[in-house]
Amino acid sequence: MVPGFLSPSLSRLGLWASGLILILGFLKLISLLLRRQKLARAMENFPGPPTHWLFGHALEIQQTGSLDKVVSWAHQFPYAHPLWFGQFIGFLNIYEPDYAKAVYSRGDPKAADVYDFFLQWIGKGLLVLEGPKWFQHRKLLTPGFHYDVLKPYVAVFAESTSDMLDKWEEKAREDKSFDIFSDVGHMALDSLMKCTFGKGDSGLGQRDNSYYLAVSDLTMLMQQRMESFQYHNDFIYWLTPHGRRFLRACQVAHDHTDQVIRERKAALQDEKEQRKIQNRRHLDFLDILLGARDGDGIKLSDADLRAEVDTFMFEGHDTTTSGISWFLYCMARYPEHQQRCRDEAREILGDRDSFQWDDLSKMTYLTMCIKESMRLYPPVPQVYRQLSKPVTFVDGRSLPAGSLVSLHIYALHRNSAAWPDPEVFDPLRFSPENASGRHPFAFMPFSAGPRNCIGQQFAMNEMKVVTALCLLRFEFCLDPSRLPIKALRLILRSENGIHLRLKSLRPGSGK
Ligand code: HEM
Ligand SMILES: *[C@@H]1O[C@H](CO)[C@@H](O)[C@H](O)[C@H]1NC(C)=O
Repeated sequence: MVPGFLSPSLSRLGLWASGLILILGFLKLISLLLRRQKLARAMENFPGPPTHWLFGHALEIQQTGSLDKVVSWAHQFPYAHPLWFGQFIGFLNIYEPDYAKAVYSRGDPKAADVYDFFLQWIGKGLLVLEGPKWFQHRKLLTPGFHYDVLKPYVAVFAESTSDMLDKWEEKAREDKSFDIFSDVGHMALDSLMKCTFGKGDSGLGQRDNSYYLAVSDLTMLMQQRMESFQYHNDFIYWLTPHGRRFLRACQVAHDHTDQVIRERKAALQDEKEQRKIQNRRHLDFLDILLGARDGDGIKLSDADLRAEVDTFMFEGHDTTTSGISWFLYCMARYPEHQQRCRDEAREILGDRDSFQWDDLSKMTYLTMCIKESMRLYPPVPQVYRQLSKPVTFVDGRSLPAGSLVSLHIYALHRNSAAWPDPEVFDPLRFSPENASGRHPFAFMPFSAGPRNCIGQQFAMNEMKVVTALCLLRFEFCLDPSRLPIKALRLILRSENGIHLRLKSLRPGSGK
């Protein structure tokens, strides 16, 4: 109970507070409307699909099949069209090589309207950073992906894959299709933790599994948040059930990454371990982060360190998981290419057990197939920028500084001007002869320019080793009753998993 003599002043306070909230809300609305007007005016010269008065294009984008919806818009509106997530976030959505080059060959910052949704989860790591700090971190971490560092990873990829294939041997015996996506995901996480985070040989534990599931939740929730204007405001989002679920999943992810950092720091206390690191000519990713000093000898702050670990832990496994899973789906769908890749792998391997570094450059057909599968199923289908200065495109149309640009990699890869018969799976598009004449910005699975993927070489190596070993052990077939349905969740996933039937090729497996 509030004592009687206090209540008049309390109720006055309440009145003041609600008045203030009303005024602040009103000011916010005005600033949003002004911003909307500015973004819309900037895109005046770009016709596009009709927009809903409240949702913009969000309703179309949220539907299954939205990726192909954008491809059909791309046919209707050459080069680019406006794309609105609600009323206040409007991008120029581009999908043409020269348009892509005009923006992505420069180092414009990420669009904060979208990438800020990452902050609670992966913080300001390389993916989100901008300006001098981004440059400093990029320079610091680049040696962690030097090829001398990557060389020994070939054996690690092979080992993690072999554990997965043994598990698949059991599942194949049941002669039913199963979803390969999460097995590939656990394998990729296991490899990543061994390669870049110095994890020992033991398989994944319960905590790693919780982490894996949390990432799948986080990517789904973040995509949903981007596309739902009512979730754009932090304050409102954290009050909703989805927002709270996002925070819980962040907690799980952070528990995992904190543990990884703690264990490594503890190991560094150990003198023997320290000597081992000093004797290594090339440091791994986590060594670099923990040993980093800036010009004044100051260490990375704990927040910076964790942001980078969270960033690489996510980017380093979820992307390759998508790449490998969709590749195996393509192999199942096009058995003639599957057989050619297998023959090539057999020939390279000869009578050895596993692949070595030098073998990777010999996998030419497999590499073409991986690229063709990333063309049709790019693991990262869409990336966003905010222009720091105006840009003029090839056709003379332009955008002022401050405009938001979305590069639709999925639609770019199906642009029929760059890719005749875009829906046809044809690895020969990537033969040296055929690739040499192509626009360098027609194929951008790893983005391009200064903000391209730092893990590109790591990813290509992993995909080659893993898929070659998969094809040597199994034949992959489609399950026509459970074809995958493409879903954009930051990463390209499938609504219903990727179900394939596997036939063991091991002698004595009875097939
Ligand atoms: C097939 C696998 C992969 C694909 C398709 C891929 C794709 C991409 C793309 C499109 C970007 C640009 C993102 C943007 O503009 O917002 C990017 C950035 C990045 N990727 Fe990857 N990636 C893959 C694997 C990896 C791996 C294995 C790692 C780490 C081990 C990694 C770490 C990063 C980081 C840290 C960035 C931010 C770089 C910067 O802005 O300086 N990626 N990746
Ligand atoms: C180039 O691509 C075409 C069409 O896919 C194919 O028929 C041709 O063999 C390719 N050329 C080379 C040299 O790979």
